[in-house]
Amino acid sequence: MVVEIKDGVYWVGVVDWNIKHFHGHEYTTHRGTTYNSYLIIDEKTALVDTVWGPYSQELIDNIEEVTDIKKIDYVVANHAEVDHSGSLPEVMKYIPDATVVVSEKGKDSVFKHFHRRWNFKTVKTGDSISLGDNSLVFVSAPMLHWPDSMFTYLTGKNVLMPNDAFGQHYASSVRFNDEADMTEVYQEAIKYYANILTPFSDLVIKKIDEFKALNIPVDIIAPSHGIIWRKDPLQIVEKYYEWASGKNDGSVAIIYDTMWNATDKMAKAIAEGLEKEGVTFKMFNMAVSDRNDVLAEVFKAKGILIGSPTLNNGLLPTIKPILEDLKGLKFKNKVGAAFGSYGWSGENIKLIEENLERAKVRKLQEGIKFKWQPTKEELEECVEFGRNFAKSLKSCE
Ligand code: FEO
Repeated sequence: MVVEIKDGVYWVGVVDWNIKHFHGHEYTTHRGTTYNSYLIIDEKTALVDTVWGPYSQELIDNIEEVTDIKKIDYVVANHAEVDHSGSLPEVMKYIPDATVVVSEKGKDSVFKHFHRRWNFKTVKTGDSISLGDNSLVFVSAPMLHWPDSMFTYLTGKNVLMPNDAFGQHYASSVRFNDEADMTEVYQEAIKYYANILTPFSDLVIKKIDEFKALNIPVDIIAPSHGIIWRKDPLQIVEKYYEWASGKNDGSVAIIYDTMWNATDKMAKAIAEGLEKEGVTFKMFNMAVSDRNDVLAEVFKAKGILIGSPTLNNGLLPTIKPILEDLKGLKFKNKVGAAFGSYGWSGENIKLIEENLERAKVRKLQEGIKFKWQPTKEELEECVEFGRNFAKSLKSCE
């Protein structure tokens, strides 16, 4: 259902309840998502972002509920990723002479996605386009999260449309944060930040500082996924600042897998040691855990304990993807250690520690490994390992 989010500004997007995997199968979207597109009616008419290609007709029908689609003068493509630009070819069939507004990098990325010679207009930070009473003002936001990303701001209505930034993969029957279950929304917002934006945290801080310095009024933050921030809209900006700074909750994430439960027993004994020292933790056996959900929990935590037995001179295959993610995501201010069982060659600890180093996770103590099934005494050592990790964790910055 079309929703007027401010006088003359309409949400004409699509709710996708059933998408459970995004980016191919790279990101799990347990709560679905929305593709938010905004239609602005002034003397001129503008559409800010479209929706994913398969939903083109739904977008067009929504636009037609508000106005004749042929009246659109400008289509802003804040970002070329197809969940937002995928409907451009269908929309442009109705308005072949409309101006497609893109960032400098966007001209290349949008063209290279669709190979159509539309009437492109390239904009940079501070550029504006008058729609009549109000104007669109553009702020380039490279690497939030693609080189082409930009924000669009509507003067007079004080609506910021920052595309993916401040969004969440969250399908719902309501559009605004003052109507939604905010526990769920924040869970999806932090998962989104942890899995997509953390490599660019320094740029997030810089962009927020730059935006604050402009001192422009913001009544609504309308991202391209999920809930629109209407009540206290800057709360999500403050959260991004906190997340980008690498703040953590002091807890530990224990991530492991096991073959015949030896590493599982070690994980539980280490957890007992953490508990004895009053450090909270969460445990994730990667054979049965969702990688993206685990990354969101690692993002919140201060310590990471990684466990795997040795298999074929390496690690269990279930552990490897998250180690690769940790390397790419570059979480800030994390400390860690390794543990696991082995049968003969026992390279597991060395390999885990190498991976932690690549991920810039500081090794808090030497790893611990035991041959075959751990004895009662060896499990006591694991408890001690957990206690020592907890003590060091509490004393380190
Ligand atoms: Fe970067 Fe929602 O696409």
